[in-house]
Amino acid sequence: MSFLKSRHTPKFGIDISSSSVKLLELSEARKGYRVEAYAIVPLSTGAVQEKNIAEIEAVGDAVQEAISRAGTKTKEAVIAVPGSAAISKIVNLPAGLSDDEMEAQIQMEADQSIPYPLEEVNLDFEVLGPTQGNPNTVDVLLAASRSEHVERRVAAVELAKVKARIVDIEPFAVENAFQLLTPSLPDQGREQTIAVVDIGATMTDLSVFRDGRMIYTREHAFGGNQLTEEIMRRYQLNYQEAGKAKKTGAGLPDTYNEEVLNPFKENVTQQVTRFLQFFYSSSGFDQIDHIVVGGGTAAIPGLDDMVAESTGTSASTANPFANMKTGSRVPRQALANDAPSLLIACGLALRSFD
Ligand SMILES: Nc1ncnc2c1ncn2[C@@H]1O[C@H](COP(=O)(O)OP(=O)(O)OP(=O)(O)O)[C@@H](O)[C@H]1O
Ligand SMILES: [Mg+2]
Repeated sequence: MSFLKSRHTPKFGIDISSSSVKLLELSEARKGYRVEAYAIVPLSTGAVQEKNIAEIEAVGDAVQEAISRAGTKTKEAVIAVPGSAAISKIVNLPAGLSDDEMEAQIQMEADQSIPYPLEEVNLDFEVLGPTQGNPNTVDVLLAASRSEHVERRVAAVELAKVKARIVDIEPFAVENAFQLLTPSLPDQGREQTIAVVDIGATMTDLSVFRDGRMIYTREHAFGGNQLTEEIMRRYQLNYQEAGKAKKTGAGLPDTYNEEVLNPFKENVTQQVTRFLQFFYSSSGFDQIDHIVVGGGTAAIPGLDDMVAESTGTSASTANPFANMKTGSRVPRQALANDAPSLLIACGLALRSFD
């Protein structure tokens, strides 16, 4: 297994998140990419809590189920640990070091910048290229995660007889997937400040991109589960029933929109505004040019318009598949519905082609 690095064989991305396991396999097509296989298998509540795997077996079963539903033959995967479980840093090292010298320098850097004993950490690095303005040094990306986070994820996919070839970090996956969103952004994202808000079940990740590069990322505890819980409470439904009702509207009274959905949408816009404030106050930026709303919760119709209205910034719903073809096994309608929630899975699947 390699932490961060890739080899060029077919791999699928597996995003293990709190509501589901999401599998996605892409292939390179003449222009861009093609979706070869995809499946989303729901997880029972508690199997993954706020991005940490609590029940390895339940996750293993879901991975197995995803493979069989997607019909993929591939046995190698790219997975990721959440940004909160990892540390990454760009360091400058002298140019022209041998591999051994580089390793030694990296160990020293890591020793200083990582707050855990190194024997409890998975460490990897990637030479990004010469430092801008200084030909004598190179920029090196250093990434580290507590081994237990990596090991639990690797073990979960191994239960489904899948080898985790690459362990990425979720924000890197989002950064990787961002290239799929740029064709539909103002000026293709060039010289623009773009926020991607991924609103999941329990967590919302805000990432900000400037001129195509990620400059900020942070996880916040907020998500669509708040709506599910309100539906459960108001209409005496269990978690599964409420989750279904939310997606289809089936069995909900006429007053649902007014009583429950609209207040939730208001809440989403307030939270997004608040998360942007955190970004502004920590970055010195005071403006965003466009907001991309992603995550499963972005499937709520009109949410992007409401975010646009309340923030005074244009907004759209994430669709990483806008310019992709799909293979014959792939259910197109389901993929279109799930597209906003597949950003991380896309970023991971793309690592196959590094
Ligand atoms: N059509 C829909 N309408 C409303 N909500 C939806 C719809 N489809 C999915 N959701 C909600 O989106 C959420 C799942 O989104 P997503 O798959 O992005 O979350 P996750 O990544 O598993 O969660 P987390 O990021 O918290 O770990 C759930 O709350 C689900 O009910
Ligand atoms: Mg998520």
